[in-house]
Amino acid sequence: MGGSEVRSLAVLTGAGISAESGIATFRGMGGLWEKVPIEEVATPWGFARDPRRVWEFYDARRRQAAGCSPNAGHRALARLEEALGPERFTLVTQNVDGLHRLAGSRNLLEIHGSLWRVRCTRCGEEREDRRVPLPDLPPPCPACGAMLRPAVVWFGEVLPEEVFGRAVAAAEASALFLVVGTSAQVEPAASLARIAAGHGAALWEVNPEETPLTPLCDRSWRSEAGAVLETVAAEALSFLGG
Ligand code: OAD
Repeated sequence: MGGSEVRSLAVLTGAGISAESGIATFRGMGGLWEKVPIEEVATPWGFARDPRRVWEFYDARRRQAAGCSPNAGHRALARLEEALGPERFTLVTQNVDGLHRLAGSRNLLEIHGSLWRVRCTRCGEEREDRRVPLPDLPPPCPACGAMLRPAVVWFGEVLPEEVFGRAVAAAEASALFLVVGTSAQVEPAASLARIAAGHGAALWEVNPEETPLTPLCDRSWRSEAGAVLETVAAEALSFLGG
């Protein structure tokens, strides 16, 4: 039964939590996937066909994210982690923009990777790279000279096993699972909420729109994250017993 000894919280966030920081979401009107074809920029075969095109897309996203700051929603989750302690709080994010870490979140699982990490296509070495813009596209591996790729998960790829395993464990152990700003259309991320509910967790959602998870939710806030997450965090603390 979820959280029988220590009542813990797991949170799943998506692009919606960064919308108020000025980062476009993926789906819906004005979404990123309306403007650029997923196939070309976010698949392994798109990268194999035209690595420079893919790197130009990611370099542009890095430039945009570098100019954005965490908003009230990110900060409310960081404060909630402080109040609960990292052993009772896990933040699982689908976002690659790095804003949760900038806001101070520590027990953070970036299940779709990070814009700020690169991985060598030959030697596999992964490292942080915060240069904006990158001087050469595609960038070469400093260790072996082969081409680097963004250390993000593309369509058609599996999620990093260790990180996703920890996300599943946090979902299974949670007494409360909070979903913020995701359309819940991408698997296996969305199934974390179903796993948590299946293990007895209460399910809460913050999203201005309904999602496929809404019918499963015990509580829903039809609002923007920045406007309500402070209140939701206070309610979560009292639900979990401080
Ligand atoms: P989507 O663009 O699919 O969904 C964004 C969600 O945020 C929608 O449900 C909006 O209603 C909601 N939203 C918009 N503004 C909001 C706000 N201010 N506060 C709260 N919610 C708001 O983004 P994701 O669900 O994150 O994957 O997409 C999942 C994955 O699909 C991404 O990680 C990315 C994408 O393709 C990869 O690139 C692998």
